[in-house]
Amino acid sequence: MEFSRIFMFCSSVLLLCSSLAYGQAASPPAPAAMTPTPTPAPAPAPAYVNLTYLLAVAGPFHTFLNYLESTKVIETFQNQANNTEQGITIFVPKDDAFKALKKPSLSNLSDDQLKSLILFHALAKFYALADFNDLSAKGPVSTLAGGQYTLNFTDNSGTVHLDSGWSKTKITSAVHSTDPVAIYQVDKVLLPEAIFGTDIPPTPAPAPAPDISPAADTPAAESKESGSSPKSSPSNSSSHRIMNLGIWSQLVLAVLGGVVLLF
Ligand SMILES: *[C@@H]1O[C@H](CO)[C@@H](O)[C@H](O)[C@H]1NC(C)=O
Ligand SMILES: *[C@@H]1O[C@H](CO)[C@@H](O)[C@H](O)[C@H]1NC(C)=O
Ligand SMILES: *[C@@H]1O[C@H](CO)[C@@H](O)[C@H](O)[C@H]1NC(C)=O
Ligand SMILES: *[C@@H]1O[C@H](CO)[C@@H](O)[C@H](O)[C@H]1NC(C)=O
Ligand SMILES: *[C@@H]1O[C@H](CO)[C@@H](O)[C@H](O)[C@H]1NC(C)=O
Repeated sequence: MEFSRIFMFCSSVLLLCSSLAYGQAASPPAPAAMTPTPTPAPAPAPAYVNLTYLLAVAGPFHTFLNYLESTKVIETFQNQANNTEQGITIFVPKDDAFKALKKPSLSNLSDDQLKSLILFHALAKFYALADFNDLSAKGPVSTLAGGQYTLNFTDNSGTVHLDSGWSKTKITSAVHSTDPVAIYQVDKVLLPEAIFGTDIPPTPAPAPAPDISPAADTPAAESKESGSSPKSSPSNSSSHRIMNLGIWSQLVLAVLGGVVLLF
């Protein structure tokens, strides 16, 4: 009897540990994104390229696409793609690039500034990757944001670098590059000097920023009740208990089985 009590104690400690570990492992929703995103290849009609669709399925470019839609710049881009001889070249930062933006944040830009910033990510002409070699000799290149919103390009043996003053980045992949429409993925959001000024911080700095989320210790403390915590926290203690009971009884059975076998 003493023996099984010790067993039960040990197993309950084990159970507690494992359930804690399980809870922690399970709490972050996990990026999921199992979809391999093959990037659409069909393209039956060469004429019309649906930019919204293209950006929605590639990427992830959701942040950029949201800005395109909220500023209505998507219509300008689509019009340029549909109705001009020259076509369009768009530089698209991934969602991560927007998340990495801290110092000059986009949050306090006016609507007009935001619109210009998004327009700044496109050139009013189709450029294949090979064309950037020529473009780099040309000095500042105007963007769709107009006038003083310019980008400098350099082609380093095939790698195309972009410089806005604030943002030095490069083309990391071609999302689409067929005559009227070129879409290239870039590492950073392009911040124009025309908005942020020429007071560029000297070095980006490796950004130490510990920023490690606590994760481990959750105070918990069994929040009384009354609304509060929507998810994450142990939600329903009663269902928890029931589950634990289920596992418990199985465990006890297993231990008992083991004891029986032993003797
Ligand atoms: C473009 O694609 C978007 C997203 O798939 C869709 O909602 C929209 O209807 C399409 N536009 C046209 C003109 O086909
Ligand atoms: C672009 O062309 C498509 C297909 O012809 C059309 O549905 C869409 O409205 C056009 N968009 C613009 C902005 O011209
Ligand atoms: C954003 O706000 C801060 C402080 O309110 C200000 O210093 C900065 O100039 C603003 N940025 C822009 C781009 O307006
Ligand atoms: C772009 O190049 C021009 C000269 O070609 C230079 O004067 C200017 O400072 C450059 N701009 C940036 C942001 O590097
Ligand atoms: C938690 O339990 C309460 C009753 O005890 C029930 O009304 C509620 O739906 C449960 N919530 C969840 C998430 O199971």
